[in-house]
Amino acid sequence: MVRVNPLPNNFYRRLIEASNLSSFRDLLIVPGRSEVEPSQIAIASTFSTNIRINLPFVSSPMDTVTESRMAVALARLGGLGVIHRNMSAEEQVEQAKKVKRAESFIIRDVFTISPGARVKDAIEIMTKNSISGLPVVEGERLVGILTKRDVSFAEMGTDIRSVMTKRVITAPQTVTVEEAKRTMHDHRIEKLPVVDKDGKLQGLITVKDIYSREKYSSATRDSQGRLMVAAAVSPFDLERAKALDKYVDALVSDVAHFHNSNILDAARRMAKEVSADLVIGNIGTAQALKDSVGAVERVNGVRAGIGSGSTCITSQVTKAGAPTLFAVAEIADVLEELNLKIPIIADGGIRTPGDAMLALAVGASTVMMGNVFAGCSESPGNLIKIGGKYYKPIRGMGSPSARQKRFAVDRYASMAKGIAEGVEGYVPYRGDLQIVMDEFSAGLKAALGYAGAKNIKDLWEKARFGTVSSAALEGAGVRDLMLPGD
Ligand code: XMP
Repeated sequence: MVRVNPLPNNFYRRLIEASNLSSFRDLLIVPGRSEVEPSQIAIASTFSTNIRINLPFVSSPMDTVTESRMAVALARLGGLGVIHRNMSAEEQVEQAKKVKRAESFIIRDVFTISPGARVKDAIEIMTKNSISGLPVVEGERLVGILTKRDVSFAEMGTDIRSVMTKRVITAPQTVTVEEAKRTMHDHRIEKLPVVDKDGKLQGLITVKDIYSREKYSSATRDSQGRLMVAAAVSPFDLERAKALDKYVDALVSDVAHFHNSNILDAARRMAKEVSADLVIGNIGTAQALKDSVGAVERVNGVRAGIGSGSTCITSQVTKAGAPTLFAVAEIADVLEELNLKIPIIADGGIRTPGDAMLALAVGASTVMMGNVFAGCSESPGNLIKIGGKYYKPIRGMGSPSARQKRFAVDRYASMAKGIAEGVEGYVPYRGDLQIVMDEFSAGLKAALGYAGAKNIKDLWEKARFGTVSSAALEGAGVRDLMLPGD
């Protein structure tokens, strides 16, 4: 290992750019003096200019990684999921809506029933949407409430009017969390409709959402207490972006090479037509960043890295690529030069908390992972047993089978590139997301501790990189022993 002595701030980034030392395995952090214990280290960060997150981990928009289940689970833990786009625009909107519906203090988009409907209709709505109660409304006016208990043993043809609870406890629109909790406790109820002064239904508070709010206190939430979610779009697909805009907190450009005149033009138009945060990418060079911020007026985040993904064969096929560390370093330097505070998302090739720390240390604010999340219970796809071990499927979004599906559902997909740039396979099953994220956040905090940094910003200042020879790499791992299970 060659130790690098302290030099001006972005020297280390330049070192990475100027050399070929751009892989996660070529570098390590030289331990620095630490003033804090790992438990006092904060890893909160920003995903995009308007989205703060408590856990700097973001799941890739891949169809074996992020749909609503992953996005809900990750946002609850403080990270953020980016819903993939290998489905129709309508389906993607539904996925985003599911995340937004998963919890909120006051649900605005409430399922209701009319007093003249039948018990069987109520059961159908409740089962289909996995809910346990329905406010009963006549027009917009609240006239009763119906819970699963009211209909459990009722005749299917009975009308709702005769089984609903008519004297409903309600809350005004100004209700606070504490007041709602008190009212629900005093009356031993689990659902509290919110009404305006004319008795019109304006929302619903549920005990489940209040518990969830307390249980997931670091969750990534919007101003209404709903979980935040992002969605992937092609910059050419303005229609899809507009359909998603109302339901997502960020739109994330999902093209392999954003630094292209037509794409820059399309992104410029998109930035003007949507209000969600716009994350551009993927880009890999300082020039790409300069051209992008020159062309697109509003850039809220940058996805950095080309060709380093675990399912990616772009670099082998085309010999073109901007490995993640190199890309982040280039972009971080130029952002500093231009005095722009745009968060960078390091995308591709991150396998361990140490890799994540390196990506953050060179200037990223968050890291995006595909492979790691694909192995969790919450990713789409079934568990598969191979040779006594469990696996989950993964495929690159440029793999032949993913491309085939995209052509079927996305009329904006083009056959311009006749070659596959991704592969498909299986990743070892890692268990529930919570376990994996606990491991990653503990690992990241420990790594920051070694670097002598108390938070990510501090890491940008204090990280001192060392380079690793292949002999050092060999010597650094577990050796001269047999592990159980080998
Ligand atoms: P990891 O290493 O975490 O990387 O699995 C995830 C990132 O890989 C990118 N990705 C691809 N890149 N061809 C590519 O060139 C592909 O087929 C492909 N699929 C995913 C993407 O940036 C993702 O976030």
